[in-house]
Amino acid sequence: MAQEKTRQQDQIELIASENIVSRAVLDALGHEMTNKTLEGYPGKRFHGGGKFVDIVEQAAIDRAKALFGCSYANVQPHSGSQANLAVFFLLLKPGDRVLSLDLAAGGHLSHGLKANLSGRWFESHHYGVNANSEVIDYDALEARAEEVKPKLLIAGGSAYPRQIDFARMAQIAKNVRAWLHVDMAHIAGLVAGGVHPSPIPHADIITCTTTKTLRGPRGGLILTNNENWFKKLESAVFPGVQGSIHTQVLAAKAICLGEALTEDFKAYTEQVIANARTLCATLQDRGIRLVSGGTDSHLALLDLSSKGMTGKRAEVVLERANITSNKNAIPNDSPRPPEWVGLRLGTGAATTRGLREGEFISLANTIADLIESEAAGDADTAVKDAIATVSKLCKQFPVYS
Ligand SMILES: Cc1ncc(COP(=O)(O)O)c(C=O)c1O
Repeated sequence: MAQEKTRQQDQIELIASENIVSRAVLDALGHEMTNKTLEGYPGKRFHGGGKFVDIVEQAAIDRAKALFGCSYANVQPHSGSQANLAVFFLLLKPGDRVLSLDLAAGGHLSHGLKANLSGRWFESHHYGVNANSEVIDYDALEARAEEVKPKLLIAGGSAYPRQIDFARMAQIAKNVRAWLHVDMAHIAGLVAGGVHPSPIPHADIITCTTTKTLRGPRGGLILTNNENWFKKLESAVFPGVQGSIHTQVLAAKAICLGEALTEDFKAYTEQVIANARTLCATLQDRGIRLVSGGTDSHLALLDLSSKGMTGKRAEVVLERANITSNKNAIPNDSPRPPEWVGLRLGTGAATTRGLREGEFISLANTIADLIESEAAGDADTAVKDAIATVSKLCKQFPVYS
């Protein structure tokens, strides 16, 4: 654990799903609250001694509703995948059809991958992105929805850098009498900060993680405005797909949601976007192609094929230089992960450390140097130079001061 703490201080984190939580969130995760076993909801518990956890859960609920502007929030899901499972449990019967973004086009495995329960127990179908623009082709999606006639249409993913047209997706869902489920796991913080359009006015149901841009503990949320589902959602989460609450995580969620309501958080999300744009523009200036031509969020997907590199090789050389990232498929990539030519980067965590545009220009140039020298067969000098650059940044911007 000590080594992991040092690693976080000494490396620049560019994995798009990560962030650095506040000291208050950390403290909550190590709080005595963890000793308390509770099932049920505030005021309706199956065990005694829950009156203080009730206050905490109610605070988390109230803050989630205020932050996202919705009338119902379930703050108990243990993870994003579990939140999605509860939505399936609420709305579908085994064998029902689901239509979601293909994993290869940036979707998420909990949206119907055959190896996941969501794809094993439900009939999953997928839509992709346009081969040229690499963004969702809504006309093609509409035709696919007419053909599949899903009961649930899912929007959102883990490697889709562009804004999704939630209004258009709601219309498509309505035309085929499907529910629209938006999984905003990656962008929840950006939505909260007002720097990304909100799916709340358009979707029937919304899930997200409290990690990633929302900068909270590992966990999930479910939001809706559909009054008919308020009670049903409670039982879909417990006892539907979960047992007792992770009470200490509940407290950490209440804290991160409170933090996300502040002006400071809004400014943070603006900086996340500015940094992502700078990162993308600098990489493009250095001849690296970006899937879809750029980003509207914290996330960038690099196509390294023209550099003769795989995502894995890039991930390894970046890590030698203390920059963490992950290989990723890009649209129409090889089905074999070792051959993927994509690399996914995100600006959430490094922005929390305090890095701004100037530092991201330097980081992007360092990344381009590493990729080019690795592609040329000898990255040793570039790695040495990059370690010096990264070390300076890490000292200047400590993770926890
Ligand atoms: C879009 C999306 N949904 C769900 C999840 C799953 O969240 P968890 O890892 O908390 O189960 C992720 C995580 O990466 C995600 O990107």
